[in-house]
Amino acid sequence: MTTVLHGPQLARLLGRWHGGRSVPDYLALAGTVRGLLADGRLSLGVRLPAERELALALGISRTTVSAAYRTLRESGHLTSRRGAGSWTTIPGGARVGSTGLWTPESAPDLLDLGTAALPAPPQLASAAAEALTDLPGYLSGAGYHPTGLIELRATVARSYAARGVPTSPDQIMITSGVQHALDLALRLLVPTGQPVLVESPTYPNALAAVVGRRGRVLTHGLSEAGWDAELLLATLRQNRPRLAYLVPEFQNPTGHLMDDRLRERLPAAAHVAGTDLVVDESFVELSLDEPAMPLPVAAYDRHARVLSIGGMSKPYWGGLRIGWIRAAAPLVQRLAAVRVGMDMAGPVLDQLVAARLLGYADEVVAARRELLRERRDALVLALDKELPEWRYRLPTGGVTLWVELDAPVSGALARAAESYGVRLAPGPRFGMDGTMERFLRLPYTLPPDQLVEAVSRIAAARRDLERPARRTWEAPALVA
Ligand SMILES: Cc1ncc(COP(=O)(O)O)c(C=O)c1O
Repeated sequence: MTTVLHGPQLARLLGRWHGGRSVPDYLALAGTVRGLLADGRLSLGVRLPAERELALALGISRTTVSAAYRTLRESGHLTSRRGAGSWTTIPGGARVGSTGLWTPESAPDLLDLGTAALPAPPQLASAAAEALTDLPGYLSGAGYHPTGLIELRATVARSYAARGVPTSPDQIMITSGVQHALDLALRLLVPTGQPVLVESPTYPNALAAVVGRRGRVLTHGLSEAGWDAELLLATLRQNRPRLAYLVPEFQNPTGHLMDDRLRERLPAAAHVAGTDLVVDESFVELSLDEPAMPLPVAAYDRHARVLSIGGMSKPYWGGLRIGWIRAAAPLVQRLAAVRVGMDMAGPVLDQLVAARLLGYADEVVAARRELLRERRDALVLALDKELPEWRYRLPTGGVTLWVELDAPVSGALARAAESYGVRLAPGPRFGMDGTMERFLRLPYTLPPDQLVEAVSRIAAARRDLERPARRTWEAPALVA
């Protein structure tokens, strides 16, 4: 099954597509479709409206649409079959644009903008010391707790209740980070080759997990305004994916926050489609300017379709490797059974540290928000000064800025920036191969002075791309 785009939906995506006097309409139309595909706003494998339908929606002749579709077919961006319609493709076919490998290099002066994570908060040391005093209470047992330590599960359950979803500890399973939680859900719920819906762009390691579990990736393209509710619900209806993975709070990489209305509609639509919704709440605590956060998607779940996954990596520290799943209690038991075949259970001491650290939640999270606000503002100030032609929407939370570049050069820019000692995460990492070249994710997790320095090096790398030859000092000097 394929997502079908109707005439008015494509017309809305196309926006102001008309060429100037020198460009015929059919070429302008084809060029705009190619641009949408390159940006990821139009997903791959989507069925475009019939020629007559699009002509009607755009108020142009069918001959113009025919010629545009023919041009797109010739360039490999459209595949048509008589009687079945036309699908978006990209020349050379689609592969996942990320291996999921994000290990930082050991170069000490490297400015790493490839990773969007903060160092540990100072309270971690006290939490670890306190946890050691809790440990003796566990030493007489075997130490295997596949669903996690009860005090940590109870603390996490209380945090959901505080957000408006009553939760009991047996609805919580502690995992080894959020990535582990997603992998467990995929293992349990998605048979090989079944469709999994993800946002485009999305978090690269989620994409890697879906591909690793041999799920068939379907995408919902995010626009500048975020999710298109009608299109997303239609995609669920038409494709009936086994699982949909969404990041509704300060989506990685775009920073979008899903509104209440769509949150309310999603679980019921997923239930009708037979889809389990995996809702990644990694950034939910990192609101920077939102006056009030919307209710969790799970608050609208009447059919046990929602698995909320979250964890401590973003607000606290990735090195803790503590995440969780909130789901119906029987589902938690099934997930724990899968987990036993993988890693048995999580480390007891680390969970005790996590439970103690959550005791400092208010002060840690308040400090994180303040720090991130300052860093985000330093980043955008530097960007506005050094690269004023780049565009972005200021995120109201999370840790990343999704920047639209002045040209589709993200991959080349990332390579050029490496020679200036800056690691970047180019747009294609967040989508399927060949798309998102016009975008770059810039996290604001480094200190302000490093962000300012990084932007000035990126601006230099961008200028280099315009020069015909590489910088001469890069040529190895011949030493005889
Ligand atoms: C949306 C999202 N989910 C999951 C993760 C991974 O979290 P963890 O380190 O807890 O596995 C990240 C990390 O960047 C993320 O951005």
